[in-house]
Amino acid sequence: MKIISPSLLSADFLNLGRDCQMLNESEAQWFHLDIMDGVFVPNISYGMPLIKAMRSATEKVIDVHLMIEKPERYIDDFKKLGVDFLTVHAEATVHLHRTLQAIKAAGMKAGVALCPATPLAMVEEVLTDVDMVLLMSVNPGFGGQKFIESTLPKIKKLRTMILNAGSQAIIQVDGGVTLDNCKELFDAGAECLVAGSAVFGSDDPKSTITKMLQ
Ligand code: DX5
Ligand code: ZN
Repeated sequence: MKIISPSLLSADFLNLGRDCQMLNESEAQWFHLDIMDGVFVPNISYGMPLIKAMRSATEKVIDVHLMIEKPERYIDDFKKLGVDFLTVHAEATVHLHRTLQAIKAAGMKAGVALCPATPLAMVEEVLTDVDMVLLMSVNPGFGGQKFIESTLPKIKKLRTMILNAGSQAIIQVDGGVTLDNCKELFDAGAECLVAGSAVFGSDDPKSTITKMLQ
């Protein structure tokens, strides 16, 4: 399975409708929305009104990546907005298991994300409770950063852990994904790649997405 989830953080906010239209016409299957609170990460992105607008702009999967402290506070709100995948950081919630259960009980797919320095052991006990594990391949907070190479062995190790646990979770990789490294990432065991600047910064975003999926 190969999925591309373009990160709207790199879209043109003055022409968001046009960029959504472009993604709708593209082969990208998901829309990746990055929510930052200025506490968990040193940046603030956008919030509920924009998610609502995105939901009305596409029938594709809305994939929300929460980079906020105590994400459990807003689970029902995201469900009401029509979010499909809700991913929380393992570092941002004390009761991760409870948070993941609550996301599923609300009727969404549950994802758990890890920063580059966070060991895979942080998710080992919840692998059968999640639909997706997001490995950050840059330090979260900003688009346009350079891919951290140690993510590659981490993907392979996680793939083995998921198999051994009998989990159905897919692996998403987020940060510094480009046309040059996407094949290697899919080959290593990633199923969903997030790409912001590589898509929106390219001359022909639709064809870049198509090439990433080849
Ligand atoms: C970073 C975000 C990413 C970001 C990716 O904190 O989680 O989704 O938008 O941007 P690129 O693809 O430019 O690294
Ligand atoms: Zn993201």
